[in-house]
Amino acid sequence: MKKARLQDTAFMTRAVHAGERVPPADFTPVATPIHPTVGFLYESIDDLDAIFGTSREGYVYQRYGNPTVAAFETAMAMVEGSQTAGAAAFAYASGMAGIHAALLAAGVRAGTAIVAALDLYGATYTLVRNLLTQLGAQAKMVDIADLAEVEAALADVRPVAMIAETISNPLLKVADVPALATLAHRHGAQLLIDNTFASPYLFNPLASGADYVVHSATKYIGGHGDVLAGVVITTVENRRKLYELNKLVGSILGPFEAWLALRGLKTLPLRMRQQCANAARVAGWLAQNPGIRQVNYPGLAAHPQHALAQKLMGERGYGGMLSFEMADAGQARVFRFMERLQLCLPATTLGDIYTLVLHPATSSHRSLSEAERQAIGIRPGLVRLSAGIEEVEDIIADLAQALGG
Ligand SMILES: Cc1ncc(COP(=O)(O)O)c(C=O)c1O
Repeated sequence: MKKARLQDTAFMTRAVHAGERVPPADFTPVATPIHPTVGFLYESIDDLDAIFGTSREGYVYQRYGNPTVAAFETAMAMVEGSQTAGAAAFAYASGMAGIHAALLAAGVRAGTAIVAALDLYGATYTLVRNLLTQLGAQAKMVDIADLAEVEAALADVRPVAMIAETISNPLLKVADVPALATLAHRHGAQLLIDNTFASPYLFNPLASGADYVVHSATKYIGGHGDVLAGVVITTVENRRKLYELNKLVGSILGPFEAWLALRGLKTLPLRMRQQCANAARVAGWLAQNPGIRQVNYPGLAAHPQHALAQKLMGERGYGGMLSFEMADAGQARVFRFMERLQLCLPATTLGDIYTLVLHPATSSHRSLSEAERQAIGIRPGLVRLSAGIEEVEDIIADLAQALGG
C-alpha cells in the first residue's frame, strides 16, 4: 500500500502498515542499523527476479542475506581475509554451525574421509568422530604437531578435508598452519582452521594457505558474553559453495546477533592486547606456584611450541587463553577451587571481558569418553582460564586465595 493512501484506510490496516517503509532520508546512520526484516521490497518485480537469479546484488529473503548480517560479514572478511583477494565471510547461528557448514562445503560426505587434530574443542571432536562417521564419513584423528604422522594419515585415507585449531582447546597446542596447508594441498585435501583462540588480531590462517577459517564469534569477536555466533571466512573459490549451502541449511545468524557481534569486533584489538598481557602475567605467576604441576601457555619459553607461536603470531602476543594442572588434584579439588573464586567466574565460555575459569573434563570435553580424554591428555586436575580485561593483580589475588585455602 502506498503511504499517501494509508490515512484513508481502516484502523486495523493503519495499525499494521503505519510507520513502516518510510523513504530513505538524506542522512546516514553512523552505526549500522539493525534490520529485523525477513522480506525486502523493490519497485519492480524484475529487480526481485534479478536478485533471485543472482544477476543483481541485493536482498530478497533473510536466509539468503540481510543488511545487518552482511555488515558483520564484510567486517570479518576485512579483518580475517584482507590479504586474500576475493575472501568472503558467512555468519552462522553458532561456531558449531559454522564448522558444520565448512566441513560440508569442503566436500565431507558418506564415503569421504577427514583428518582431524586429536586436540579439538569437545563438540568439534564429537561432531567429526561420532556424527560424521555415523553418516558414513571416515575420521582419522592425528597429533597435529607431528607432521610426519599428519602426512602419513593424509596419504593413508586421502581425505577431502583436514581440520585443526590454531591454538587448541584446552591444552594450548599450536598448529603449524603454513606446513599443514602445504601437506593438505599436496594430498588433495582442503584445510579448515578454527582460529577462535588466536582471533583475527593475532593470526590470519587464510594468508598461510588455509581454505576455510572458522570462528566461534561467541568468544573474542563478540567479546562480552552476550551473543552466540559463528563465522566462516573462505577463499573466492569456495564462497559460492557456502552461499548455496546456507540457503538450503539455514543455520544463519540473525540481525540482532550480527549487530552485537559487529559491535564487539570494533574493540577486539584493544581487548586482545590486554588479555594477552594478563594471560602472560597469570601464566608466569602460576608457573612459579608450587601447587601447580604444569602451565600450558604458548607465550612461556618452556612451551614446546613457543618458537612456532612466535613465528605465527609475531609481536602481538600469545593469546588470552591458558590452562594449568593443579598438583595431585582430582575433580573434587578443582570444583572447590572454582567455588572459592570471588572475581574470576566459573562460567562455560571464553574470550569475554571477564576472567573465566572452566573444568574441561566435565564441560568443554564432557562429550568425550574417559579413554578419549586420557589419550588427549585432559586429566581431572586440568583447569582452563580465559583472561579478562580486569586489572591483572586483582585476578592473581583471587587465584591465590582460591588455590591457597
Ligand atoms: C575452539 C572452539 N571452537 C568452536 C566452539 C563452538 O562455538 P559455539 O559455542 O559458538 O558454537 C568453541 C566453543 O567453546 C570453541 O572453544
